[in-house]
Amino acid sequence: MAMPPHMDARIDFHGMPACRLALDDGSQVIMALHGAQVLSWTPGGQAERIYLSPDADLSGQRPIRGGVPVIFPQFGALGPLPRHGFARNLAWHLEAIHSNSREGYASARFSLCDSPATREVWPYAFRAELTCCLSENRLDLELEICNTDHRAFAFTAALHTYLRVQEVEECQLTGLHGQPYTDQTHGRSARDTAPELTVEDEIDRLYHDLERPLLLREPGRALAIHMQGFPDAVIWNPWERKCADLDDMPPRGFRHMLCIEAAAITRPIELPPGQDWYGRQTLVCL
Ligand code: BG6
Repeated sequence: MAMPPHMDARIDFHGMPACRLALDDGSQVIMALHGAQVLSWTPGGQAERIYLSPDADLSGQRPIRGGVPVIFPQFGALGPLPRHGFARNLAWHLEAIHSNSREGYASARFSLCDSPATREVWPYAFRAELTCCLSENRLDLELEICNTDHRAFAFTAALHTYLRVQEVEECQLTGLHGQPYTDQTHGRSARDTAPELTVEDEIDRLYHDLERPLLLREPGRALAIHMQGFPDAVIWNPWERKCADLDDMPPRGFRHMLCIEAAAITRPIELPPGQDWYGRQTLVCL
C-alpha cells in the first residue's frame, strides 16, 4: 500500500531527521534525510550489518562517516567537484513510503533535485532518486538519475556501502578472481589472481566490469552482494594509519568495517536530455 511519509516512520536519529522502516520479523533499516543515507540495517533477529562510525558527524554540516553514502555526480577526486560529489552532503526529500506486511516488504523513496547550490558547482538540471527496499534478509538500494536539463551530461556515481564486520581480517570476499583492478593507493593496474580476497592492510581498489556477484564470508555468517547497472566496485579499508587521520572514526574502527561499493567510475555515464539511468545494489544475508 502506498502511503505518504507518515509520522511514525519519521524519527529523530541523534538529532538528525531520519526515517525508519520495519517489518514484522523485526528487520529494520534507518535512513537519514541528509544524503538519503542508510545508517543501520538489522535483518530480523540478526546483528547490525552496516558500519556507522560512533564518531560520525551527525550535524548535517559534513558527510556522515559510515552507512551507505550516495556518491553523485563525481566519485572521489576524479573531477573539479568537492570530493565524492555533493549528493552525500545535502538534505534529500522523503517522497513516499510503501509498506506491504502481507508481502513482507517496506520501502522509502527519497529525491534530490538541482538547486542554486548544486548549479554553482555543477551547472546541470537533474533529478536523483534513491529507493530503499527492505524485505526478509534483504536490502535493495536503487539510485536513479534523470537528466532534466536541455544538454547532455556525464557523471560518476557509487553506493559507498560501509559493511559492518566482526573482524575485518577474518573476512573472505569471493567473486573478484580474475577481475582487473586499479590500485588507487599506487595508481597501478593489476588483475586479481587470488581465489578470495582477504584484507590485512590498507586497501583501495577499483575493480572494473564485474562479472559475478560477490560473497562476503565471516565466521558464522555470510552476505551476498549483487549489483545491477553499476559495472565497477570499490573495495576500501583505510587500515590503521589512514584511519588515525580520520577525525570522525575511532582509531580501531577500521577493524569493524569493509566498504564494498557499487560504482560507475571507469566509464562515466553519459546521459542525454530527458533520459534516465539507474543502478542497484542488493545485499542478502545467507
Ligand atoms: C573510497 C575511496 O571510495 O572512499 C577512497 O576509494 C576514500 O580513496 C574513501 O579514501 C573515503 O572517502 P571520504 O571522502 O569519505 O573520506
